[in-house]
Amino acid sequence: MDTPLLEVKGLKKYFMKKKGLLLQSGSVKAVDGIDLSVKQGETLGIVGESGCGKSTVGRAILRLLEPTEGQILFQGRDITRLDAKEMRGMRRHLQMVFQDPSATLNPKLTVRQILAEPLIAHRIEAKQRKPLIEETIEVVGLSVSHLDRYPHQFSGGQRQRIGIARALMLRPQLIIADEPVSALDVSIQSQILNLLQDLQKQFGLTYIFISHDLGVVEHISDRVGVMYLGGIVELSDKSELFRKPLHPYTQTLLSAIPRLDPDEKKEVILLKGDLPSPSNPPAGCKFHPRCPACMDICMTEIPPLKKVEGRLVACHLY
Ligand SMILES: Nc1ncnc2c1ncn2[C@@H]1O[C@H](COP(=O)(O)OP(=O)(O)O)[C@@H](O)[C@H]1O
Ligand SMILES: [Mg+2]
Repeated sequence: MDTPLLEVKGLKKYFMKKKGLLLQSGSVKAVDGIDLSVKQGETLGIVGESGCGKSTVGRAILRLLEPTEGQILFQGRDITRLDAKEMRGMRRHLQMVFQDPSATLNPKLTVRQILAEPLIAHRIEAKQRKPLIEETIEVVGLSVSHLDRYPHQFSGGQRQRIGIARALMLRPQLIIADEPVSALDVSIQSQILNLLQDLQKQFGLTYIFISHDLGVVEHISDRVGVMYLGGIVELSDKSELFRKPLHPYTQTLLSAIPRLDPDEKKEVILLKGDLPSPSNPPAGCKFHPRCPACMDICMTEIPPLKKVEGRLVACHLY
């Protein structure tokens, strides 16, 4: 079997909560034991409510946050313990696109300077930089004449194109896109999604695409992982997941997507209560207090992810 491009094993990220001066009181279990593998060239969508740990997973994989536990393997190589210098070299292959490009593009730099930064950091020679920058600005649908402008002179969609160009500068293999279209108007969202798909073909990219929006995830993903309170509850081929969600949480999420076809009758399942706090998660299955199908066992025993109908599900119903 081919080695997956990326493998994540038992990944945990706990944030320590500080109380008073030195006393630490407990932790926020933002990511609480996640296993994933991503194949070369595919798009793995990660979906779940706000606060369930999606961004933390993305950042911990790139080691922008230090994992508390677990392993990250890139092309079979364990990158979890690489030192800062080795990790910088590795970042050539692993890049991130963020939700809000305004917050991550330096307003004092021109687009040309922004795109040059990763090249300089990776010691790409000056004479190679110009053609690379000019090629990349065009592949994201902007033009060379935009290079000497500043970020504030662009629209939100154009700024996200610049954010994508920056991520592409070193021709990475894997891009983790964290809510890349969530800040954009719906009409612009599909343009950016189409751009990401075109770039995937052109450069053979692999994506982890993070979003709270199932519609967006459905559009772009090959497989989808559904997260709830720091864990994956269902991981499946996209078409299977949308045809027949198995986990009660996935069923709830899917029931809330508006459908265009008025004949397609479906019942919207309403969830009881709010997302519990990851600093004090419920015992047993973390979803049990809100689950419409909760049984006694769910309150005490954590359901493992297991293979059911060709996908992975963490639920005592199966
Ligand atoms: N730097 C941090 N320090 C403490 N808690 C954090 C930090 N970053 C995220 N969290 C907490 O971790 C949980 C998951 O956050 P996040 O990964 O941002 O979720 P999502 O991206 O799914 O909205 C949330 O409860 C959030 O408040
Ligand atoms: Mg997030």
